[in-house]
Formats: sequence, C-alpha cells, structure tokens
Amino acid sequence: MRVLIIGATGSIGRHVAAQAVAAGHGTVALVRDADRARDLLPAATALAVGDGTDPDSLTAAVEGVDGIVFTHGSHGGPGEAERIDYGIVRNAVAALDGRPARIALMTAIGVTVHDGAFNRASGTHDWKRRAERLVRRSGNPYTIVRPAWFDYNEPGQRRLVFLQGDTRRAGSPADGAIARDQIAQVLVASLTSPGAERKTLELVAEAGPGQDDLEPLFAALEADPEGAWDAVLDPDTLPLGAEPAAVTAEIDRLAHRKETRR
Ligand SMILES: NC(=O)c1ccc[n+]([C@@H]2O[C@H](COP(=O)([O-])OP(=O)(O)OC[C@H]3O[C@@H](n4cnc5c(N)ncnc54)[C@H](OP(=O)(O)O)[C@@H]3O)[C@@H](O)[C@H]2O)c1
Repeated sequence: MRVLIIGATGSIGRHVAAQAVAAGHGTVALVRDADRARDLLPAATALAVGDGTDPDSLTAAVEGVDGIVFTHGSHGGPGEAERIDYGIVRNAVAALDGRPARIALMTAIGVTVHDGAFNRASGTHDWKRRAERLVRRSGNPYTIVRPAWFDYNEPGQRRLVFLQGDTRRAGSPADGAIARDQIAQVLVASLTSPGAERKTLELVAEAGPGQDDLEPLFAALEADPEGAWDAVLDPDTLPLGAEPAAVTAEIDRLAHRKETRR
C-alpha cells in the first residue's frame, strides 16, 4: 500500500512510520518541519510538507495514497480540538474527494466521556468523537483504535486486549495501559486486515507476551453498522439532536459525496 501518516513526527506516529516501512508499505508523512522530520523518520518515508489545518496541504498529501493513518493530536489550546483533532480528519476526507482509502484513526479510550475542556462544544473528546463519526460516515473502509494510557504498562504487560463499548471511564491510567509501539502495531496491522474493517476498539495490554498475529483479535470484534455515526456498542453520550448543526451537516456532506460516487 501507499500509506499517508498524519502525525508521523509525534510519539506514536514515529512508531507507525517505522513499522509501516518495515511492513513494506510505501510511506509518506505529512510534516510541518521537513528538517525535523528527516531526523525522526525512516529515510524511506517520503515527506509531504504542509499543515493539516490547510486543505490545500491535504490535497497534495493524499495524492496516490490508498491508506491513511491518523495519529495527530492537539495540545489543549482554545479551539485546537476542533481545528486539529477534528479538522485535519475532515480536510483529509474532503481531499480524497470520494476516492476510497483504508483509514486507521487513533482517538482515545474514554472518548465517549465529555472531557469538559473549555466548554461542552469544544472538549477534545467530543471533537475526536466527531472525527470518528466523520470517518464512519465517509464510506471509506476504516478501523478506529482508542488506546489506553501510553506507557503505563509494566514490563511483560504486552498481551493485547481489544475492548468495545468504551466502558472504562475513570479518565486515569486505571482505565488501562499500552505501549506506544503496540499502538502502532495495531494501527498498521489494521490497514491490511480483513477482520479489522468497520471495527472500533479500545486498546489495552494485560500481563503476558504480545501477539504477532492480530487477525483473531480483529475478527472477534463486532463491526459498526454500515453508515453508523457511532461505534456499535457506544453509549449515546453525544446525541445527534444536540450536536452543532454545522458539524452534522458537514459530516453528512462528506458522506453524501462518497455515496453519490458508488
Ligand atoms: N497520552 C496518553 O496516554 C493518550 C492515551 C490515548 C490517546 N491519546 C491521544 O494521543 C494523542 C497524542 O499522540 P502523540 O503522543 O503521538 O502526540 P504528539 O507526540 O503530540 O504528536 C502530535 C502529532 O500531530 C502533529 N500535528 C499537530 N498539529 C498538526 C498540524 N496542524 N498539521 C500537521 N500535523 C500536526 C504533530 O506534528 P509536529 O511534530 O509538527 O508538531 C505531531 O506529529 C492525543 O491527541 C491524545 O488525546 C493519548
């Protein structure tokens, strides 16, 4: 595959780039600073220099790709969650302009809990969840991975466990732990896994060795209904009727674009 990584210079994206190259994928990374990216990423990774909040950057970056891994993230500034966590996914899906691409989207465990940052409409979790909805509705084949807390795992805590329903809601490492390289393993594996399609999962690790073959884990999950807004077992904590009308209209517009081309 030719895979675009958005967030490749981040703490998870670096692992994704290394593992995607090792898996034999052609990789391209959307980066803001080419010099910094060159120091961080495998030499085999092509660079598309641009900012994900700029639609034109995405138009150039998605050229010729058949997979996209999203591991980007904002840092809590006002309006950033909408512009970055959601907006970059929106810009990428819009840039595909109906061409199908396999999507692997990283969000977070507990994403269905309102995180209360700034106000209800701009909490990071809510905007990440809207990004999930946009991907589900886009018509592209996808896997959504909601990792638990990075690097709180003990040595030897490498056995991957996939959960659904977002039932761990403490908002602390009590919800589970996962190593960064294993998040990348799941994202990269999902791109070529038949069993991972239309699946949304929370990702934790328990005591024991990691697994090389993730297919049985993906296959055991319940798929999201086709065209669904939310993951199959999610609680309805972001009712569509109370959502900003502009956001639901935008998600519908991008979904419609895909449907009319089938
Ligand atoms: N910490 C945890 O335990 C935990 C658990 C679950 C989920 N998460 C989620 O994981 C995410 C953080 O992942 P991480 O540690 O890999 O993040 P990170 O190290 O902060 O990396 C963020 C990436 O996003 C890129 N990015 C940000 N704004 C961009 C823009 N406008 N255009 C293009 N690229 C942009 C950054 O590029 P630059 O290098 O150019 O800045 C960087 O590559 C957060 O959103 C968080 O919610 C965290």
